[in-house]
Amino acid sequence: MLAIGSDHGGFELKNHVKKHLEERGIEVKDFGVYNENSVDYPDCAKPVCEAVLSEEYERGILLCGTGIGISIAANKFKGIRAALCSDVFSAKMAKEHNNANIICLGGRVTGRELAFMIVDTWLDSDFLGGRHSGRIAKIHELEK
Ligand code: RB5
Repeated sequence: MLAIGSDHGGFELKNHVKKHLEERGIEVKDFGVYNENSVDYPDCAKPVCEAVLSEEYERGILLCGTGIGISIAANKFKGIRAALCSDVFSAKMAKEHNNANIICLGGRVTGRELAFMIVDTWLDSDFLGGRHSGRIAKIHELEK
């Protein structure tokens, strides 16, 4: 199960990504927003981060206009590793090296088809562990 959420700037791309994932047979829970009225992206990051931290949802996708604000907000949650990706290589590394449990996209930056490739690559990649586990442990040390 995957959690998805956005602000108004990511609303349109969120809907396309959600549909794409559902067409892949992935169950997606949409935490909003549900229209393009202006909202504050930290409020949109919160329910998705909490859903992932609860372990009810294995991974999350967050979108805002650039993906920047919502990724900054998401990374304030202990245990969240949110990676802002606008290319496929970064999406692969976000999983293989960083074990990102949330990926962030910019609805005003990244085109629809590229967004699908980014999301698919991240979902289809596996964490490599090894030396990367130690580095992630050090990230979580910084949270203390
Ligand atoms: C909203 O206008 C915009 O600031 C937001 O979507 C995002 O791009 C912030 O980083």
